[in-house]
Amino acid sequence: MSIEIITGASSGIGSELTKQLENYAEGIDEIWAIARRENLLEDLKTKTKIPLKPIALDLTDLKSIETLEQMLKVSGKEVGVLINCAGYGKFGSYADIENSAALGMIDLNCRALVGITNIALPFMKRGAKILQICSISSFQPLPLMSVYAASKVFVLNYSRALWTELKPRGITVTALCPGWVDTAFFKTATDTKNPKAVTKYTFMQTPERVVKQGLRAMQKGRMLSIVGKQNKILYVLNKILPVKLVMKTWLKTQK
Ligand SMILES: NC(=O)c1ccc[n+]([C@@H]2O[C@H](COP(=O)([O-])OP(=O)(O)OC[C@H]3O[C@@H](n4cnc5c(N)ncnc54)[C@H](OP(=O)(O)O)[C@@H]3O)[C@@H](O)[C@H]2O)c1
Repeated sequence: MSIEIITGASSGIGSELTKQLENYAEGIDEIWAIARRENLLEDLKTKTKIPLKPIALDLTDLKSIETLEQMLKVSGKEVGVLINCAGYGKFGSYADIENSAALGMIDLNCRALVGITNIALPFMKRGAKILQICSISSFQPLPLMSVYAASKVFVLNYSRALWTELKPRGITVTALCPGWVDTAFFKTATDTKNPKAVTKYTFMQTPERVVKQGLRAMQKGRMLSIVGKQNKILYVLNKILPVKLVMKTWLKTQK
């Protein structure tokens, strides 16, 4: 029996991933959907044809990773797909964001992502897929989103290195980089001392489109998938332009 583990399934991109998965993951018999809000995970049961097991865990707590590892050992199931989607960002300067929120971003976006990947890998066989939800904010340092953007740099580089390490095992790791996506992300991000620090959300994308591209890229075993032509251009520009100019231009767009 092969399962799919998805974190951050209760909302936004994760909930859409759970709904669309049945079109892309052949041979998956069960979805393990993880987030803190169990009622929203329960609601997902009616949105997919694949049997879904809601697992309420706070992934910033290391004990949650141990709990999940134990569940995997007891189940004896193989992990066919792992999607790390849980994550959050905060808008504002270093002084606008509580230290607990800044550290929480690192705990969830980076530490939990590595922890879950590590505990799932022993249960993955040739042909298994990992999808890591990254962001175009991983392409450059972003003042007013400094910790969030840096956490996604971690996700991008970690995922690419892992893609190479896992090649001999026939397991692929895809880093999905969308731009702004219309989800509850902004509610969490603006809950700071300076909610209006970042307000221009250009080229907003829908979760449906982002997820469709992400699952296709995962199916093909791509290392990187950037959503949208304008974001692909941004990726190239960030490689050739001086970093100070890139940051200055970003700040100008927010004025
Ligand atoms: N929206 C964007 O513009 C955008 C752009 C690029 C990348 N992304 C990335 O996409 C991913 C999904 O974000 P989204 O846009 O879909 O936002 P969202 O709607 O706010 O979803 C965030 C998900 O993370 C879960 N989560 C938050 N804290 C958690 C914790 N401590 N333990 C377990 N789960 C937790 C939430 O579930 P509970 O609250 O129920 O725990 C929720 O399911 C994130 O990694 C984000 O960085 C978003």
